[in-house]
Amino acid sequence: MEVLLEARALSKFYSIGERKIKVLESVSLRIKQGEFVVIAGSSGSGKTTLLSLLSGLDKPSSGTVFLDGQDITDLTEDQLAPVRNNLTGFVFQAFHLIPSLNSLENIMFPAELRGDRQARQKAEKLLEKVALSQRWNSFPEQLSGGEKQRVALCRALINEPKIVFADEPTGNLDSENSDRIIELLRSILRDQKTTLVMATHNRGIAERADRIFYLHDGLLTFRR
Ligand SMILES: Nc1ncnc2c1ncn2[C@@H]1O[C@H](COP(=O)(O)OP(=O)(O)OP(=O)(O)O)[C@@H](O)[C@H]1O
Ligand SMILES: [Mg+2]
Repeated sequence: MEVLLEARALSKFYSIGERKIKVLESVSLRIKQGEFVVIAGSSGSGKTTLLSLLSGLDKPSSGTVFLDGQDITDLTEDQLAPVRNNLTGFVFQAFHLIPSLNSLENIMFPAELRGDRQARQKAEKLLEKVALSQRWNSFPEQLSGGEKQRVALCRALINEPKIVFADEPTGNLDSENSDRIIELLRSILRDQKTTLVMATHNRGIAERADRIFYLHDGLLTFRR
């Protein structure tokens, strides 16, 4: 199958004052279309950092990222925005919903950016799939953690991206609800042959992935 995402020798350093902190060191990986891949590793191991680099949200200190055959490493923010909006969906660890928009509007937003005239219809369908139709009119601050997570998931899926990055998408859910979210995510992705790259330290979820990568001391090892 076609390689959709490739990282070559990605490194990431942060400078704090005089100190230089190495977060990722020469990380390379290839992910094929339709794969469900988990990035595992303890807190602080660099999972969020790696997802940000792979999705073009942040730049590596060195190394290259290819997304759908295109080298995105040196693209400017203006060049990257449409690539991200058309190809990728991102579920953030901290949701990043827009506080002034209700659930439905939050979900519609990326589709409206593309001028999709079916944005509302698609958003309503997604809300139904995550059992939140009744809360379409609620604002983020009126939603529970798990509900916000489901809205964020719908927003990531509305443009039918080729690849979804999900950062601990079940971190705020009990095990029953997190199972439901994972099942839902998998069924939606299976239908659309979407690739899923998920950071999690939940072993139960990691077991369901096609492949698991493990981050430790800035290095990535392949587990399965
Ligand atoms: N902007 C920054 N400046 C300095 N250090 C940072 C910055 N962002 C992240 N780090 C450091 O990089 C390391 C990796 O952070 P990251 O958020 O990627 O970890 P993580 O694996 O996602 O952790 P968690 O499981 O807790 O979400 C941590 O030690 C963190 O303190
Ligand atoms: Mg994280």
